[in-house]
Amino acid sequence: MTNRIAVVTGATGGLGTAMCKALAAQGRAVVGTHLPGEEAQAKEWQAGLQQDGIEASVYPLDVTDFDGCKAFVAAVEKDLGPIDILVNNAGITNDAPLKRMQPEQWNQVINVNLTSMFNMCQQVFENMCERGFGRIVNISSLNGEKGQFGQCNYAATKAGIYGFTKSIAQEGARKGVTANSVSPGYIDTPMVRQVPEKVLNNIVAGIPVGHLGQPEDIARAVAYLTADEASFVTGTNMSVNGGQYMA
Ligand SMILES: NC(=O)c1ccc[n+]([C@@H]2O[C@H](COP(=O)([O-])OP(=O)(O)OC[C@H]3O[C@@H](n4cnc5c(N)ncnc54)[C@H](OP(=O)(O)O)[C@@H]3O)[C@@H](O)[C@H]2O)c1
Repeated sequence: MTNRIAVVTGATGGLGTAMCKALAAQGRAVVGTHLPGEEAQAKEWQAGLQQDGIEASVYPLDVTDFDGCKAFVAAVEKDLGPIDILVNNAGITNDAPLKRMQPEQWNQVINVNLTSMFNMCQQVFENMCERGFGRIVNISSLNGEKGQFGQCNYAATKAGIYGFTKSIAQEGARKGVTANSVSPGYIDTPMVRQVPEKVLNNIVAGIPVGHLGQPEDIARAVAYLTADEASFVTGTNMSVNGGQYMA
């Protein structure tokens, strides 16, 4: 196993934590990011991983801030070395039906979920190409594949990730840099636990396997797509949704 450096944005969240553990288990040097101002929670998160024997680095980062992303990548490269693996995982929802959606809601979700892809990928991409190795995984969503009532902003960002990912996959293909997306279905995380119980029960009833996914289900997909051996897999999307949507 190679001690490659793997960055996970929004690492302290439900799925990010599982991804960091899976990447560490693969022998990666894991770098997680947390929102600026949440240093205390980030330290707690880091200590939790330490209890599992994982030494992760953690940096503050707002993925909507282009210059901040640039400074973050420069800091990681200076402190640890070049970034080999980037998992763009940070994401939010801010739901409303179209008729009630405010421009601020629309712009916020576009910026965090989609503009962040450009902000982060541009900082690492050329360096990956020059070194002849890179793995980029962008976290999309089931609702980007099928759309969702009340989530036109969120679904637009998650669908946009597919076009972005396929484009940079073509740009990196001859240089050893792969780019893929993972589209989680409903996973047992705080984000999904916010859904009212009655609605959640209906959602679970619509999942063919009959239960929510676990964060580890998504982490395993990320581990696979970021493996050195996954060099022939690029420009694709991996749906991990219990059969809820079969594209
Ligand atoms: N959970 C699911 O079932 C599910 C299903 C489909 C897709 N997804 C996608 O999977 C990803 C992770 O979701 P999750 O369930 O783990 O959600 P989560 O626990 O809320 O994690 C999201 C992370 O992103 C961070 N974040 C938010 N805004 C940010 C910004 N501007 N800059 C940097 N980081 C920011 C959050 O920080 P704070 O905690 O400090 O706000 C949090 O650490 C998201 O992209 C989500 O859309 C999740």
